[in-house]
Order: sequence, then C-alpha cells, then structure tokens
Amino acid sequence: MTKYQLFSEELKEHIRQQIWRSGEKIPSVRASSQQTGYGTATVLQAYQLLESEGWLIAKPQSGYFVAPNIQALTTVPPQSTQAPVRINDLLFDVFQRTKDSDIVPFSSAFPDSSLFPQQELVRSLSSASRKMDNRSALTHLPPGNHDLRRIIAQRYVQQGLHVGPDDIVITSGGLDALNLSLQFATQPGDYVAVESTTFYGALQAIERLKLIPVEIKASADGGLDLNDLAEKLSTYPIKACWLMTNVQHPLGYTLSQARKQALVDMLRQHQVFLVEDDVYAELYFSAKKPVPAKVYDQQDQVLLCGSFSKCLSPGFRIGWVVAGKHSKAIQKQQFLSTISSSVPVQLGISHYLLHGGYDNHLRKLRSTLQDRKSAMIHAIRRYFPDSTTVTDPAGGYFLWLTFPAPFDSHAFYEQALEKRIAVAPGTLFNSRQDDLRHIRLNYSYEMNEENLIALSTLGQLAKACLSDSSNQQNDCSVK
Ligand SMILES: Cc1ncc(COP(=O)(O)O)c(C=O)c1O
Repeated sequence: MTKYQLFSEELKEHIRQQIWRSGEKIPSVRASSQQTGYGTATVLQAYQLLESEGWLIAKPQSGYFVAPNIQALTTVPPQSTQAPVRINDLLFDVFQRTKDSDIVPFSSAFPDSSLFPQQELVRSLSSASRKMDNRSALTHLPPGNHDLRRIIAQRYVQQGLHVGPDDIVITSGGLDALNLSLQFATQPGDYVAVESTTFYGALQAIERLKLIPVEIKASADGGLDLNDLAEKLSTYPIKACWLMTNVQHPLGYTLSQARKQALVDMLRQHQVFLVEDDVYAELYFSAKKPVPAKVYDQQDQVLLCGSFSKCLSPGFRIGWVVAGKHSKAIQKQQFLSTISSSVPVQLGISHYLLHGGYDNHLRKLRSTLQDRKSAMIHAIRRYFPDSTTVTDPAGGYFLWLTFPAPFDSHAFYEQALEKRIAVAPGTLFNSRQDDLRHIRLNYSYEMNEENLIALSTLGQLAKACLSDSSNQQNDCSVK
C-alpha cells in the first residue's frame, strides 16, 4: 500500500468511529500534514481518493467535508438479497431464436426498418465517404467527428441544456455510451440502482462489470418511486444509478420536470452518478420534447447517453455520451474497448443531419408510431382476455402487457414461438428473471392482415395460458 492509500484508510477508520461526522469539515491539507507528518502531496492525494470513493466532498474555497450520506459507507449494508445477475444467456437465446425473417417480430428491440430514411442515409454515406481522406481515421479518434458533436450539442442547446461539442463523446451506439459511463462511475462490487422493471441492457452491464443491482420501484402509472430511491440511497452505498427519465423502457413513462429535478437534487446530496439512458428522446408523443434530467445537473454528475439507433438507423451503431468534465476519462475507457466508432458512418450521419431533413423525418416517424400504437392497443383489446392490462405510453414503440397471476410469460413466449410469433417475456426485464406476468410487444409494425392474425393468435394463447394456469397446468397451447 502506498503512503496516501495508508493515510486514506486511517481517515476512513476515523470516519467510521465518528471522530469526523457526516457533513463535518475535516482539517485542511496543510493542517493534516503538520499533525500527521505525511507530506502535503500525500495528504492531498488521500483526500482526492476519498472524494472519488464518496467519503469526502470538496467545496471550493472551503475545503474538504465528510459526505452527507456517509452512513451508507460506514455501516455494513444489509446483505443483498440479490443473486449475481445472469441475464446474458437468456437474452442471447431469445435473440437467436427470434431473428428468422419469417417470424413475426413483435419482440424486436428496434422499430420497423421501413420507417427509416434508408435512401437518404445511403446517399449521405456515399457522399461523405468520397470526401474521406487518409487522415480521417486519425482525426476522428475519440471524442469523434466534430460536426456530429456540434449538431448534437445544438439540439441540446435548443432544449435549454447548455453543452458544447467538447462535452460530447461519440460512441458505437447507445449501449456503448451507457456501458462506458457505468464503467467510469463504478468499480467491481459496487452497488448500482436500476428501475424495477428495467431495460435488460442495464442488467447485462451489471453482470459484465460484476456490480450489485439495487432495484428501485417503478410503475407505468407512477413512474420512478423517488421515496424508494431515497430509502435505498441511505441503506446501500450506491455509487451510480442507471435510469431512464424519458419514455422508460419497457414501462413507457416520462417523469415530470419537477421529478427530474428532485431526482438530480437527491443524487447530488448523496454524491451519486446518474447514467441517464435517453435513447428514446426523439420518440415522444407530447407537444413539446421532454428535457433530460441532465438539464438540472450543475456538477457533471449526470452522464447523458443518446443514440441514433431508435430514431434514424439502428444498424449504423452511432451513439454518444454528454460527459462534460469526464469526457477525457470516458475517452480513455473507449481506448480500452472499441477505440472509436466507425469513421465513415460518423461522417455519413453528420452529412445527413446537415442536409437530409432530419426533423421532417422525426415528425413523420412520431406520427406513424402514434397511429400504430393505437392500432395495436385496439387489436389487443379485441383479441386478448379482458383481464389483460396494457400501457398507453407517451412515446417509443413498446407496449407492456400485464396478465393476472398465475401466468407464465416464459411458457407463453415458447408457445408463441412455435407459431412463429416472437414476443419478449417479462423475465428479461428484472435481475431475478422471475417476472412471469408480463410481456413486451413492439408496435412499430403496420397492423396489416398478417400482424392482425398474429395478435389474434397471441390473444388465444393468452386465454389458454390463463385457463391452464387456473387448472394448475403449465401449458398455454391452444387446443
Ligand atoms: C433503453 C435502451 N437503452 C439503450 C439501448 C441501446 O441502444 P443502441 O442500439 O444505440 O446501442 C436500447 C436498445 O434496445 C434501449 O432500449
């Protein structure tokens, strides 16, 4: 152990013994150095280490203070009831088995590809590639294409989020941005708060980074339960939250501005990072585009992640993180994994954004999705058991269906697949994989005859599943 690590362990012990209490100012670097005999550089390094681990906070011109939420670090957290997350195998299996082109793709994570401006994008890509020179691969290393970052920044500024191109790092899709951000904010073994129910990508990242999930209650009607979050923040030494404040996947809610602000205030008090997953930002149905929680962030504690996958081109794999002062740290993580996102694709997308009529495309996309949502809800009401409840999200392209217990969403998924219809079972969306009462359906496809028949088949399967489960059998097949 180096000297500064040794000194930081001594300080931790003092804080555990409440020699220094929550919120209290600790001696200045100079005073500490004189009292302990450690050099000022060693003391400063120890203070900075404790700050990065959440034990201390630095206040400009005032010095270092013990963090306000220190109980969570000093008390041994209650034994987590969570087994380690192991979602990847199940997900991989579901994706492998549902990707054939003759399967009705209600399980897909992407919108109907015919909704994207494919021809304009191809034109932009070829025009941009022709202008590529030999140096492009180097000039587009992280943080990525300057024009692209500038256009993304412009769109945020129009919403009142004052960021510049240098705050933004271009990544290989939204998931890459989210993973890099979570990796930056945590160490293996740390606690991370996620919604329950959540996007499985968050669970995969937690599994890969060997983190411990803390589930925060969330519902389609009530959104994220901030009281539950407050309680969990004072119980567990949570290092980061991975949350969606707009068009939450899969529940579909968008938090009000007041609740976004309350969320950011709470996380600031506890010195906890927010990895904000905002990949559905453009797919809102409200009159005004909802702002991300990041607009209330004064300290770069929110790492805002976006993507073009859901609104422009899933296959192009371009996303970004608004990282602010952490931009360099995120770029260093990138160097350890993908190095950079594809250069021709960055150029092609920025060409399209400058010349291709992006906002027109988005207006059309939102309006089509809204019509298709109504059509699918209508069909579900017609074909599914009366006891089925279905969300009516204010954006995106997913419906979340709830069946009365007992129901087996996994058996339902298997039976549907035998009929060449793919649905996403609820088991994919929580860390214990025990959600058997829900399925997710993608409503972005046209409600043509084939899809209508598929929904009617699903409705019959659901009826069979419910009547079999009331007879204690575990089989949803339509007799
Ligand atoms: C909520 C959410 N976040 C992130 C992603 C990943 O986005 P990308 O495809 O850009 O990596 C997805 C994709 O399904 C998603 O649904």
